[in-house]
Amino acid sequence: MKVFIETYGCQMNVNDSEVVLAILQKEGYELCGSLQEADLILVNTCSVRDNAEQRVLGRLDVFRLEKKKRGGVVVGVLGCMAQRMKEKLLEHPVVDLVAGPDSYRDIPRLLDALKTEGKQISAQLSHEETYADIKPVRMDGKGVSAYISIMRGCNNVCSYCIVPYTRGPERSRDPYTILDEARDLIAAGYKEINLLGQNVDSYKWNDINFAGLLEMVAGLSPETRVRFATSHPKDMSDEVLHAMARHDNLCKHIHLPVQSGSTPMLEKMNRKYTREKYLERIAKIHEIIPECAITTDVIAGFCGETEEDHALTISLFKEVRFDGAFMFQYSERPGTKASRHFPDDVPLEVKTRRLNEIIALQNEISLAQNQKYVGGVYEVLVEGPSKRGADQLVGRTTHNKTCVFSACGHKAGDFVKVKVLSCSSATLISEII
Ligand code: SAH
Ligand code: SF4
Ligand code: F3S
Repeated sequence: MKVFIETYGCQMNVNDSEVVLAILQKEGYELCGSLQEADLILVNTCSVRDNAEQRVLGRLDVFRLEKKKRGGVVVGVLGCMAQRMKEKLLEHPVVDLVAGPDSYRDIPRLLDALKTEGKQISAQLSHEETYADIKPVRMDGKGVSAYISIMRGCNNVCSYCIVPYTRGPERSRDPYTILDEARDLIAAGYKEINLLGQNVDSYKWNDINFAGLLEMVAGLSPETRVRFATSHPKDMSDEVLHAMARHDNLCKHIHLPVQSGSTPMLEKMNRKYTREKYLERIAKIHEIIPECAITTDVIAGFCGETEEDHALTISLFKEVRFDGAFMFQYSERPGTKASRHFPDDVPLEVKTRRLNEIIALQNEISLAQNQKYVGGVYEVLVEGPSKRGADQLVGRTTHNKTCVFSACGHKAGDFVKVKVLSCSSATLISEII
């Protein structure tokens, strides 16, 4: 039996698909590279913004055609949309199976029941499930960088966000299973480990906090890079910053979503920090880890956002000078606090204009930040061939800057020293020295 898995959304979802593949392999399934070969088509979905959901609904129509062409194909919807929409998704003519993020162990049973009982659903959130005993089956085929989920769910309830409803309550995973998985990856030749959680700073297992966990993972092998995401400005501790400064292999990059530069907006978003507190955290990062790159997420046009609030976001971006940013316009999500209490009152064209202003500004800043690297020499972990042309490789510096360079006989998984020759806002054009 062959399974095809398509994944949308965040890194956590990518890692969840690897967990699902591990579960299915035990049942005799084999991963295939195309829809056309598959006996089982799974789509692991994201609900974070409406357009993420629309894309998946569009894909279901494609799967429907595939199913019409060949009898016997089973289609399953996993992930955050499965959790949010539940039975509503089962009503879709193409969908045979629905399983939420905490129900993946149920998939073999559901597949079995499907044969005799028809459509199946499992979408119960859990306080305990961390899939700690399941070794994810990596599917990117490169063998260089891998994800380890250290926790699941989220307790923060930012007012705009659907994640706490689709992923359930926050729970940390037993650190010894995390270390075990990291050791296995290192033994298999992986050179980079990415620790994942919606809010890694609130990781807690008995007396082990996130800084403690980082120290333990970084201590396994000085040659293995360790990254993590996502940090929360209200929880990111100095202890974590000191751990990063102490270990060369803890990558010098922090993703610290700000969401807005206006304190009243932050309060309405239930972010539990002010503009000043955010800027204080940024100053602390520069003080403890001077070379650290910083990236962020921002939302334009949240409920009630005025031109003044927007100007504060712009001024914060000018002040912080992020290395990069993921920028979104607000998308109302059903069932969130914002959808229940605050009207989505910023007109679409205003949201779009504000977003475009932030994007234009950030593009300039990203370029200027990258220009600082030109002429410098950096260690890069090679990830594989670049799309830029034959014999070109792509890799990243500790700061998560993407470098492109001529291969000179090197391959994925090698550490190379490069000199940066020029740059765009997204890439450092380099040469191996
Ligand atoms: N746990 C992480 C990321 C959550 S989702 C965090 O706390 O930062 C990733 C990003 O999507 C968020 O940082 C936010 O910028 C954006 N986002 C979440 N909900 C959104 C919504 N309803 N509309 C627009 N963007 C949203
Ligand atoms: Fe969503 Fe906030 Fe949790 Fe991030 S911290 S997942 S934005 S509720
Ligand atoms: Fe991730 Fe999207 Fe779910 S961002 S947690 S897949 S809503």
